[in-house]
Amino acid sequence: MVIKLSALTLDRPIILAPMDGYTNIPFRIIIKEMNPDLMFTEFVNSDAVIHENKKTINKIRILDEERPVAIQIFGHKPENMAEAAKIVEEIGPELIDINFGCPAPTVSGHGSGAALLKDLPLVSKICESVVKAVKIPVSAKTRLGWDNSGINIFQTAKIFEESGISMVTLHPRTKSQKFDGKSDWNYIRELKVRLKIPLIGNGDITNPEEALKMFNDTGCDGIMIGREAVKNPWIFKQIKSYIDSGNYIKETPINERKRLCLKHFDLSVKYLGEVKGMLEMRKLYQNYFRAIPNLKNFKQKVFSSNDNDMIRELIMNIENYLE
Ligand SMILES: Cc1cc2nc3c(=O)[nH]c(=O)nc-3n(C[C@H](O)[C@H](O)[C@H](O)COP(=O)(O)O)c2cc1C
Repeated sequence: MVIKLSALTLDRPIILAPMDGYTNIPFRIIIKEMNPDLMFTEFVNSDAVIHENKKTINKIRILDEERPVAIQIFGHKPENMAEAAKIVEEIGPELIDINFGCPAPTVSGHGSGAALLKDLPLVSKICESVVKAVKIPVSAKTRLGWDNSGINIFQTAKIFEESGISMVTLHPRTKSQKFDGKSDWNYIRELKVRLKIPLIGNGDITNPEEALKMFNDTGCDGIMIGREAVKNPWIFKQIKSYIDSGNYIKETPINERKRLCLKHFDLSVKYLGEVKGMLEMRKLYQNYFRAIPNLKNFKQKVFSSNDNDMIRELIMNIENYLE
């Protein structure tokens, strides 16, 4: 089905997943170039939003050029989630998303994220409070349940629907699984049959063939890409090309890799600062240049340099620094 979320219409959207530590403004500008239909920010703690923690508010700044954007919040106190949602709404995203899936101890260990899947009445209260607090649509992102014996996705999804949630994203693993094994797409297919609101399928898409398979095998209304977007930002374009024409460029040429990496570097420095931006990029070189063997020498040089002009030079002339 075509997804209608207030003023936003999404037709079989391909969506950038929320990823803590990755989906910041520089990364989202890079992905925007690849023509995604919607992008998620990193999640933010509702309590930190309420206290107007500077770092937190900075994380959910959005630029007009990135729209449409969803801002994701987490927490477990309905009144605080509602209050945070109101503040987030002022920032102007097209959508507010609630996290019901994070397995990290820093989140689920404090009763938020996936821990909420053990307390469905609280899930209901949180959803109702947030939906009531804001005028824009509210979506939910979740997992199958806490563990293998606690798979309760169908009950959880019914609660989402009954409490006014406009769209659901399912990453079909349990909290206990974290990222182990394979996500079980059968649950996406089964949930699609039961759900009246739109369903986004997520989990383990690493190429256009799998993206199309997710649509075809599950009947989901949209798909969401996480880790592969970090490894291969071009995947959004590749998927669209594959769906439209049956073809796509499999190997991204080195010059294009250099161009995008340099652009990302400059955006990181611009939005995060000379030092933080430079340090943040260190986790991304491996992805930009993973098609190239013998990166050791390049990485050694780039990791030991604090001179941003020198780093740009290393990226531009990477061929000269391979072992
Ligand atoms: C580094 C990292 C950070 C993540 N941060 C979030 C987050 O902030 N909120 C969230 O709902 N999911 C988060 N996720 C989960 C992803 O959004 C996604 O559901 C998961 O990675 C499965 O999709 P994939 O197989 O396409 O990566 C994170 C995943 C990774 C790898």
